[in-house]
Amino acid sequence: MNTNDLIRTFTPEAQRKVQPRPYFNHSVEFKGLYTPQERTRALDEAGLNVFNFPADMVTGCDLLSDSGTTTMSNEQWAALHLGDESYGSNRGYFKLREAIRETFGSEYFSDRPGLVHNAFIFHQGRSCEDALFTTLGALGSNLLIPNNGHFDTTQANIEANHIEALNLFSPELRNPASSSHFKGNMDVQRFEELLKNSNDRIPVAYLTLTNNTGGGQPVSMANIKEVFLIAHLYHVPLFFDACRFAENAWFIKQFEEGYTERSIPEIVHEMFTYADGFTISFKKDGMVNMGGGLFFKEGGLFLDKYPHIPDAIFNYQIQKEGHPTYGGLSGRDIMALAVGLKVSARDEYLEYRIGQVKRFGNHILDYGLPILEPTGGHAVYLDVNRFFEGTKMQPGDFGGISLTALLLSAYGTRGCELGYFAFGTWNPATGEEKLPEVNFVRFAVPRLRYEDADLESVAESLKLLHDRRDRIPGVEITYGRELALRHFKARFRFKDINV
Ligand code: F0G
Repeated sequence: MNTNDLIRTFTPEAQRKVQPRPYFNHSVEFKGLYTPQERTRALDEAGLNVFNFPADMVTGCDLLSDSGTTTMSNEQWAALHLGDESYGSNRGYFKLREAIRETFGSEYFSDRPGLVHNAFIFHQGRSCEDALFTTLGALGSNLLIPNNGHFDTTQANIEANHIEALNLFSPELRNPASSSHFKGNMDVQRFEELLKNSNDRIPVAYLTLTNNTGGGQPVSMANIKEVFLIAHLYHVPLFFDACRFAENAWFIKQFEEGYTERSIPEIVHEMFTYADGFTISFKKDGMVNMGGGLFFKEGGLFLDKYPHIPDAIFNYQIQKEGHPTYGGLSGRDIMALAVGLKVSARDEYLEYRIGQVKRFGNHILDYGLPILEPTGGHAVYLDVNRFFEGTKMQPGDFGGISLTALLLSAYGTRGCELGYFAFGTWNPATGEEKLPEVNFVRFAVPRLRYEDADLESVAESLKLLHDRRDRIPGVEITYGRELALRHFKARFRFKDINV
């Protein structure tokens, strides 16, 4: 018998329930051993604020963020040793230029050094945002930047420059019954109305891929294209917040008609034809622990409209980050990034990565717990209001904070409240608490770090908490209720048990 014919009968991949990972461990790190009592003591000292809890004591999964928490590949670790720490135009800079041109398109990184500066390396995403919005803020007053969903630091950097930040979430995001695969889309109808009436107020429009604030949901190619065309119709440049560009491309390949047969690199290229520039934190799909960038498209509307801005950014960078050829990063970081960008566009990596987030979400659903569906690319978002449905938990009890605190002390797993507390605001003059539309606890999955069994154990811990939800008390805020970005700073204590 022909061996190929024989093998074929044994390999119907679709019948497999469990696929092996497309990588194996290169080195491992043993966790510390801590009891729930020890964790509780540490969390009390941290004022129940999970950001202040020592990471060494996280004995379950640390799902606080997928940012900078990636396990690097052996090739990236090897590349670190090739780092060149020269002050100007280090070796990694040229490797990175090649990787950016290959990944996003050659128009985003000019190869005419000294003549055209359209690519700026930064140490992380928010520093690119600060540079961009500081220069845009200087253009005038009463400005506004719309987005399909501003990330919190993006919004903070916009507002710090006296620009209004507006979210145009898609109607599908607010509709739990919607089965749309692209809930991260921008509401194009509202976008067009906005531009019709006030395009002169808008120096740039933004699309965040994937939409982190909107549940890590992807944006379709059709939406990207439509937003770009509308923006250009009203002479407004379009920028991407491109942190999770590869994950977004995977969803397009998976669910959008006409893209199934296209490769991830091809889809990424097409996405970036519909932008005039982008900011990015490489701590996500750059697969590194530190890094960011700001890129303007050569020949794009942004540079056409604001030709002076690259020079202003150059000055900003010299003052605050360093020479633009290293931009606040060490040469070795830049080398690891140039290699990391190639990992994130690999089909088998993305398939496993996004599949893992989905399997994690399914475990939680199997226990009957409410999450935002479908699961996004990098995180599972637990719906706090539905979790506490039927209990005495009130919005002002901040159940999401209680949940993250209990999960950490009892089970050693760290998640992050992104809901009534993180996005709410309190007016000390009126004593009024203004609540946001969404109330989630986010479990962000670091790249290449955990095995499915680890995440399954998190789902089980959540189920144990849910079984006792009547006994979960709310929290009172002992410090920081009125502060901006209060979730990073506040302290809490449990109220008396709510039974
Ligand atoms: N934009 C988005 C969409 C982000 O998710 C983040 C960071 C940033 C910008 C800022 O990048 O951290 O490098 O300064 N998100 C992390 C998170 C912190 O946990 O979601 P940065």
